[in-house]
Amino acid sequence: MGNQIKSVGIIGAGQMGGGIAHVCAMAGYEVRVHDVSADRLQTMHATISGNLARQVSSGKTTESEREQALARIRPAPAMADLAAMDLVIEAATEDETVKRKIYQQLCPVLNPEAILATNTSSLSITRLASSTDRPERFIGIHFMNPVPVMKLVELVRGIATEDTTFKSARAFIDTLDKTITVAEDFPAFIVNRILLPMINEAIYTLYEGVGSVEAIDTAMKLGANHPMGPLQLADFIGLDTCLSIMQVLHDGLSDSKYRPCPLLVKYVEAGWLGRKSNRGFYDYR
Ligand code: CAA
Repeated sequence: MGNQIKSVGIIGAGQMGGGIAHVCAMAGYEVRVHDVSADRLQTMHATISGNLARQVSSGKTTESEREQALARIRPAPAMADLAAMDLVIEAATEDETVKRKIYQQLCPVLNPEAILATNTSSLSITRLASSTDRPERFIGIHFMNPVPVMKLVELVRGIATEDTTFKSARAFIDTLDKTITVAEDFPAFIVNRILLPMINEAIYTLYEGVGSVEAIDTAMKLGANHPMGPLQLADFIGLDTCLSIMQVLHDGLSDSKYRPCPLLVKYVEAGWLGRKSNRGFYDYR
């Protein structure tokens, strides 16, 4: 089956929503982005514009492609502005209550034939699907951060996802020049099931005084060839997101090996969420 998707709605103009808008617009889709904050929508547009300018400087794209891509991304001030989209990707915060509320507002106005996807990094696709009016046209499409750079997308079907939905989602991702990994609907799928316990262990290593922030990150960068140290990566992902994923693993798999490190909990309680709040394991002020 070919790709039937021509237009993409995105809910959430944060790091992930912005990155998804960037790659969809570059692939030629009409993109509309909804966010409760008008400021976030503006910041997103400026960030995409800057990232595309870097791609022009490094010869990955041209100025005219950049301008055309930017023109394809339009804000959707009301949820109803997404009504005619063929695919809507929800990239809101990693909180089940927030996501359910969004689906409640979106489903009554969204074209009944449209596919609804979530960019959740850990939550059950089957459970999220059950709170929509279209479990058979609901699917997990999980992009990695930074979206324009990372080649992987995890594709996750819920128990009720129909084959046609799966095939359309697959054909859509192929047009974005990404590699697909199919994961079963288990807590945190594949990447985060493996990555987040590693990050959590790095935080325990700090908590127990085995090494400093710099020592831990240098050890993993130079000793294991990771592009970023685990604490720098945690700041990049967002410590609140890291904590939610560890909680999903801990609750969903009922194994104490997934216990979130108390230091991670404390940082999140302090509002030290990493790069986005200017403070995490590193100070960005
Ligand atoms: N948006 C667009 N492009 C970006 C970007 C962004 N946010 N950040 C970096 N880039 C581009 C740069 O423009 C540069 O492009 P060129 O080659 O065209 O110049 C390229 O990426 C490399 O960037 P830099 O030279 O500035 O820096 P770097 O070499 O240190 O690479 C990095 C930066 C790609 C982020 C690298 O450090 C890296 O791969 N880090 C690990 C990222 C990772 O593990 N992501 C997965 C997180 S987990 C996840 O996403 C799942 C989840 O649900 C939590």
